[in-house]
Amino acid sequence: KDPRIARISSAIRVIPNFPKPGIMFQDITTLLLDTKAFKDTIDLFVERYKDKNISVVAGVEARGFIFGPPIAIAIGAKFVPMRKPNKLPGEVISEEYSLEYGTDKMEMHVGAVEPGERALVIDDLIATGGTLCAAIKLLERVGVDVVECACVIELPELKGRERLGNKPLFVLVDGA
Ligand code: PRP
Ligand code: MG
Repeated sequence: KDPRIARISSAIRVIPNFPKPGIMFQDITTLLLDTKAFKDTIDLFVERYKDKNISVVAGVEARGFIFGPPIAIAIGAKFVPMRKPNKLPGEVISEEYSLEYGTDKMEMHVGAVEPGERALVIDDLIATGGTLCAAIKLLERVGVDVVECACVIELPELKGRERLGNKPLFVLVDGA
């Protein structure tokens, strides 16, 4: 295993019972404070994706907006935000997805991507996988090839990886 992983793992703060009892919140803001660990995080993704002919890095609001752009710049891809509903000003396509209670929507600008483009989807964390599935569907609906999904943290017990089916998922660390 890459020696940089241990430092990244220890830079992520776990806050019990946030935002509600029983949840062990994986707080990446402390990773952002550790300049070496944050750079190592970006570098590990860049090393993996730089020669994969990826033209789009699609980042999921909110924390995919932190990790996605530096990766996009480094690999020479464009950055496309996948946003919460009613935030994007132009024409959008949207995809509903289920949360623990109820549903939410994810939106992407029409015209941000072209059929045949190769995309990486990035977020901070995969739990049940519903969020990443919505992002994949939005991109595939417009003919984009989603090469892989990448997250800093996976909560393996929630089996989000299975929900992604045969779509490859790359993660740096497992959450507590
Ligand atoms: C968290 C996390 C992922 C998502 C993972 O975001 O940042 O985006 O949950 O959950 P899932 O795999 O079960 O779909 P959240 O929905 O809390 O919103 P935020 O990132 O805007 O805070
Ligand atoms: Mg999120």
